[in-house]
Amino acid sequence: MNKKPVRIGVVGYGFMGRTHSNAYSQLDHFFDTQHIPVRQVICGRSEDKVKDFAQKWGYHDTETDWRELVKRDDVDAIDICTPNDSHYDIALAAIENGKMILCEKPLALDGAQGRKMVEAIEAAGLPNLVWYNYRFLPAVTLAKKIIDSGELGRVFHYRANFLQDWTMSEELPQGGAALWRLDAAAAGSGVTGDLLAHNIDCARWLNGDIVSVSAMTETFIKERVHQETGEVQPVNIDDACAFLARFENGSLAIFESTRYARGHKSYKTFEINGQNKSLSWDLHDLNRLSYFDHSVPSETRGWSSIHVSDGDHPYAGNWWVPGLCLGYEHSFVHGAVEFMKHLDNPNAEKAFPDFRHALGTQYVCDAVLESARTKQWVDVKKA
Ligand SMILES: NC(=O)c1ccc[n+]([C@@H]2O[C@H](COP(=O)([O-])OP(=O)(O)OC[C@H]3O[C@@H](n4cnc5c(N)ncnc54)[C@H](O)[C@@H]3O)[C@@H](O)[C@H]2O)c1
Repeated sequence: MNKKPVRIGVVGYGFMGRTHSNAYSQLDHFFDTQHIPVRQVICGRSEDKVKDFAQKWGYHDTETDWRELVKRDDVDAIDICTPNDSHYDIALAAIENGKMILCEKPLALDGAQGRKMVEAIEAAGLPNLVWYNYRFLPAVTLAKKIIDSGELGRVFHYRANFLQDWTMSEELPQGGAALWRLDAAAAGSGVTGDLLAHNIDCARWLNGDIVSVSAMTETFIKERVHQETGEVQPVNIDDACAFLARFENGSLAIFESTRYARGHKSYKTFEINGQNKSLSWDLHDLNRLSYFDHSVPSETRGWSSIHVSDGDHPYAGNWWVPGLCLGYEHSFVHGAVEFMKHLDNPNAEKAFPDFRHALGTQYVCDAVLESARTKQWVDVKKA
């Protein structure tokens, strides 16, 4: 087959820069898409580090300023892997230069920025994706397939957690490299935009739109030294957030996220309860989907645990043999695969979140933060 190269310029060589580079390097070995990603240019501010990264991950060239990257004729798509406060500027400049965009989540600092990004990219008609990657784990994709078949019956409940414990020390500074997530100016919000945004994306994908929310947030440690200024500064992010939600389909939800749940590293879960069946999943056992079927005779009825690794399970048949596990990194390979498939056939239904879908998630985050501030239920804007 004559492959069509998609030359990608990645901005940022941190955590996500690595997961995406890995995805681009694996895709063509395991999946047969007509379009294939090419690791064209990696961009980062430190010349030494960006050159090291390029050598390690097989990029053809480097840049130290994303403003130059977006203008390059040898780049077709910009992949934004930088902290949240830079997504808007990089995306608008990339759109102006006619580049496709793959953007890390959350789309922007808030819905107002996100809406302008959606308007600009849709007006330009450029393909776009936001990396809500958990959808692409085989067990989560299987849950979507089961839910879409209607076999759960009427859905009553949805619940989701994302629990961590890494910011509990008062000595931890905020801001700068590695700790930008604790600085609201760089992150936009705390666990709401960082962790709950993932849960909200999955929830909206699996169970439809969220129409209203009632939330509480807390900042447990009120001041931290800022890494860049050396000064003790107020902490403006939400360390924890819990909210209730109503879905358009009439079901009710409860979401919780915190970085203060001692003992939890990255405990991300969802459960959905329908009239006939329930499903539940957690990231610590990511190859398994728990499944309860009320139609089974009561003597043998119970939760079963599906090991989502068979040849006919989503994505699994492209990898090894039945029973062998996939990991976190594969979700990014699968996200890139869906984007390439979309380029192969732009008229087929998209199997990934685009800017507009991510704006819907951003609006839920905005409503959650507003509700926590005003102590009122808040209706969610439609994207
Ligand atoms: N999809 C996911 O599961 C997931 C997981 C982690 C992070 N993220 C998102 O990915 C983005 C990046 O997070 P991360 O964990 O990779 O952060 P990180 O701190 O590990 O990496 C960020 C990188 O961006 C670089 N950078 C910052 N400003 C830059 C600029 N102006 N020009 C060029 N490079 C710049 C930094 O030097 C660093 O290499 C964030 O938006 C975050 O929310 C998504």
